[in-house]
Amino acid sequence: MLLLACCLTHCQLTTTSIRSNSKFKENIHHVYCAKPTVAPGTVPFRDWSFSNKSPLLELPIDPEEKNYVRRIHNVSFSRVMPTPFHSLPVLVALSRDVLQDLLDLDPCDCAQSRAFLALASGGQPQPPNSLNLAHRYGGHQFGHWAGQLGDGRAVLVGSYLNRMGGYWEAQLKGSGKTPYSRDGDGRAVLRSSIREFLASEAMHALGVPTSRAASLVTSDDAAWRDQFYDGHPRQEHTAVVLRLAPSWFRIGTLEILHRNKEFELLRQTLDLVTQHYYPDLVQLHMNTPSSRYAAFFARVVNETAEMIARWQSVGFTHGVCNTDNFSLLSLTIDYGPFGFMETYDPDFVPNTSDDEGMYRFQYQPSVGHHNLVKLWETLKPLVTERRDRDTMHEGLMLYAAAFNNAFLGLMSEKLGLEGVGDEEETEMLVAGLLQIMEDVEADFTMTFRELSETTVSDLVTDTLPGHTWVLPRLLAHSAWRGWLRLYHSLALRCATDSSMERVASYSEGMRMERMQGVNPRYVLRNWMAEEAIRRAEDEGDFSVVHRLQRVLQNPYLVQHEAEVAGYAHQPPQWAQKLRVSCSS
Ligand SMILES: *[C@@H]1O[C@H](CO)[C@@H](O)[C@H](O)[C@H]1NC(C)=O
Ligand SMILES: *[C@@H]1O[C@H](CO)[C@@H](O)[C@H](O)[C@H]1NC(C)=O
Ligand SMILES: *[C@@H]1O[C@H](CO)[C@@H](O)[C@H](O)[C@H]1NC(C)=O
Ligand SMILES: *[C@@H]1O[C@H](CO)[C@@H](O)[C@H](O)[C@H]1NC(C)=O
Repeated sequence: MLLLACCLTHCQLTTTSIRSNSKFKENIHHVYCAKPTVAPGTVPFRDWSFSNKSPLLELPIDPEEKNYVRRIHNVSFSRVMPTPFHSLPVLVALSRDVLQDLLDLDPCDCAQSRAFLALASGGQPQPPNSLNLAHRYGGHQFGHWAGQLGDGRAVLVGSYLNRMGGYWEAQLKGSGKTPYSRDGDGRAVLRSSIREFLASEAMHALGVPTSRAASLVTSDDAAWRDQFYDGHPRQEHTAVVLRLAPSWFRIGTLEILHRNKEFELLRQTLDLVTQHYYPDLVQLHMNTPSSRYAAFFARVVNETAEMIARWQSVGFTHGVCNTDNFSLLSLTIDYGPFGFMETYDPDFVPNTSDDEGMYRFQYQPSVGHHNLVKLWETLKPLVTERRDRDTMHEGLMLYAAAFNNAFLGLMSEKLGLEGVGDEEETEMLVAGLLQIMEDVEADFTMTFRELSETTVSDLVTDTLPGHTWVLPRLLAHSAWRGWLRLYHSLALRCATDSSMERVASYSEGMRMERMQGVNPRYVLRNWMAEEAIRRAEDEGDFSVVHRLQRVLQNPYLVQHEAEVAGYAHQPPQWAQKLRVSCSS
């Protein structure tokens, strides 16, 4: 307990200082300045500012500006300044695409800019029009109403409208206490920040709707964390991720307003969300708010189904699917104890403390439904017309179908079938393969990848390419031959069903090429993240973070450095014993 008291004030790491480390490279800008040209359309950070018209300012802000933990009513946000580090901030990584394409910033300039480092670490000065808001929300956690939660260690620093008309809200995660911090210290540790930084960009590259990450900064300020909740807290480096999303509103944003009977604010928030993010619905239901809210709900149902189908198609398990971690825009947000499944196991649970496995891989689709029911309950008081209530009800009823549709579509793409032919047969094909994978404990990612790197005739004759390490397990299963026959016939049928032109051009090569474009060869496996974390923590060496960043940006492309690092090979022995921690 004495130790814990320390982090409540502040303390610097006494053990491994990043800066004093031999491998720490003070200037990592060479990593981001390889191309000497300035990215077109970008501005230097010193000329950059947030937008001066954030729609969020239409919502009420807490008049109390002092930063202490409390219950808050009738407002959406509290003003709070990020807390700078005591020790010097150190830039770990930047995301080129995010800076260039979303923020109109030049990555090389950002890597060298003191002012950018100040913003990205929660320091001063900040660019003009900074907002500094912590959001008030509630939520259902593990099935129970948890009351007021809110941004306990995140601060929304500003909104940005880019040159392409894209709107992004920038948050610092890990930038200190807010009125919503409850018992927390408002900090995030380097370990979990590296994971969030890498995962959100990797998910984007996999085509999954997600928040993005622009930068990662660490420091020698320490936080105490009991990584495995086993009574062994240790000091860890703290870090801040600058992350972006078109909106950070969650289902819990609306839930707390309903619970507290703040119906006017609930209406106001919904109007803002629909006007800003679903303008077509506003057009359609200009003077009928009740219909507008119902249509919004039906849309969220569809998009949530689509998002979760994408999770399932890449073996991603979020880990904490509480309603406060579920975006109203159906983006993947709040990367905590997530995991990319390795060995296919429907009961995979990345959060080692989630003993009941409530958020296990195979439950995610139904957890999505549960969360939508909570949203439905929240919206009901504002949906006054019977017809609109029916729309909501039908929307909810269609969730399962929407999910199945999306999932089957993605899976038939993964299997190289052009379009879902006969739905029942495709379902049989997918279920059959998953059952075999489960039985032989096949690696999820590499099963599909190896199928896309092998011709069907080689599969039929059991002549596998030398580098395969997953398919040999599948071949040994008693159901494999039958499955392969079905697969072969469906693949051929897809080819012959299409127009004559297609038939003529169909070839195994094309099937394989199509499949390689949707089945990643590299995902962020725990052991890969762990290696990057160890090197960063122990040696102040961020090169593995940078390598993973590069590799995971093009997960479908065979890359030399990734092959050398063994990212598509059988995971190393030491990785078998890894546990994901929950504390972050
Ligand atoms: C919130 O606003 C309502 C309506 O204006 C008011 O009746 C209520 O007292 C307010 N609650 C608090 C805690 O300020
Ligand atoms: C939901 O998706 C289905 C299938 O794509 C579509 O037919 C339906 O119109 C969508 N509903 C809404 C409200 O977007
Ligand atoms: C998800 O929500 C819980 C509260 O329900 C919060 O404590 C946690 O930090 C969130 N998860 C992540 C990864 O941010
Ligand atoms: C992991 O699961 C446990 C048990 O349900 C829960 O208390 C904990 O909050 C979860 N971890 C996170 C980060 O949500």
